[in-house]
Amino acid sequence: MSELFAVSAPGLVAFTARELAALGLNTGAQSDEGEDGGVTFSGGLPEIYRANLHLRTASRILLRFGQFYAAAFSELRKKASRLPWENYLHAEQPIALRVTCHNSKLYHSGAVAERILGAIGDRLNRPVPAARYDENSDVPAQLVVVRLVNNQCTLSIDTSGAHLHRRGYRKAVAKAPLRETLAAGLLMAAGWDGASPLLDPFCGSGTIPIEAALLSRKIAPGRLRRFTFMDWPNFDLAQWQAQLDQADQAVLAGGPILQASDRDAGAIESARANAVRAGVLDAIEFTQQAVSAIQPPHQPGWVVTNPPYGVRVRSTHDLRNLYEQFGKVLRLTCPGWHAAILGSDPVLLGHTRLKFDGIFSFNNGGINVQLACGKIPPDFDQSVVP
Ligand SMILES: C[S@@+](CC[C@H](N)C(=O)[O-])C[C@H]1O[C@@H](n2cnc3c(N)ncnc32)[C@H](O)[C@@H]1O
Repeated sequence: MSELFAVSAPGLVAFTARELAALGLNTGAQSDEGEDGGVTFSGGLPEIYRANLHLRTASRILLRFGQFYAAAFSELRKKASRLPWENYLHAEQPIALRVTCHNSKLYHSGAVAERILGAIGDRLNRPVPAARYDENSDVPAQLVVVRLVNNQCTLSIDTSGAHLHRRGYRKAVAKAPLRETLAAGLLMAAGWDGASPLLDPFCGSGTIPIEAALLSRKIAPGRLRRFTFMDWPNFDLAQWQAQLDQADQAVLAGGPILQASDRDAGAIESARANAVRAGVLDAIEFTQQAVSAIQPPHQPGWVVTNPPYGVRVRSTHDLRNLYEQFGKVLRLTCPGWHAAILGSDPVLLGHTRLKFDGIFSFNNGGINVQLACGKIPPDFDQSVVP
């Protein structure tokens, strides 16, 4: 059993912990320290495969590969060269090192990286090519994370490869798309039950409804993509295939009503193309229409959406009016529904005149955003209409 770490973005850590527990993976202490936030759990190759295949909110899964004291470069190189790198690195495999040093005698991250590369070369009896880690590549170099804290060195090897938000279905993007991991987290934070109707009237490239379809049909989010562990010399193809078969058997044929709309024709076209790739086009009713034209089903459900909020999208429209109109449309057409609206500006959200009783904070592409959650009044109240 090794220590594993599911890295999660700020605001998503608690949801990743819940997901790990639901998957029956044994979780340990949690930390929420920004970039390094995440959840520890334990396991071997089967648990690494399971977490990568099923987690919807995690960014990547790290294998805590070695931990030792090192206060001198010679000590660092010697101890790092004792680790079984050959299990994880194939010939010619370029390595990208991410080094952080805190309160340690070895504080020069470049020099630490050089010694670790040297140690891997010592172990494998060949020079190891260094590479830059390209977050946007579909096949990034093997990432090795080195942390030196109080002279304790922790070496972690990345098991995922490309960031886990890259499910493989979203090739077409509209304006300001959400990360898939965040969209899944919004659905969880909103408390959507996976069975009631769901509406996204500002769907853009369709990330929220597609994640909702994957969630409600129990489709594994990693089903379509490659992972770094597949390139490791110790890759267990039979184990991986067994996990894929098990995941496929769990998929449900039907699901709740999922309505997605956007006034932009190009956005709807992208959303449909993404839904086709995700294998969930039949699960979602896509319509090109303005928010004022929505016709939700009578059975109450959840509105989970990400309207334009003025920082990433420079809308020519008056956002204040849009939010006022949106609030009015919700009160008229969705009485008794749950609403979860993602925005960066509480003043704009206030223009909806809806009451929110839960606020969750996240980060979307470097911008701090809040998901405001509340219940739309069951009866339409004329007095709050502007
Ligand atoms: C922030 S983006 C949504 C991004 C989406 N969550 C995604 O992941 O791609 C906001 C969307 O609202 C749409 N929009 C703006 N005003 C609208 C209106 N009045 N009615 C419907 N859609 C509107 C825009 O076309 C844009 O696609």
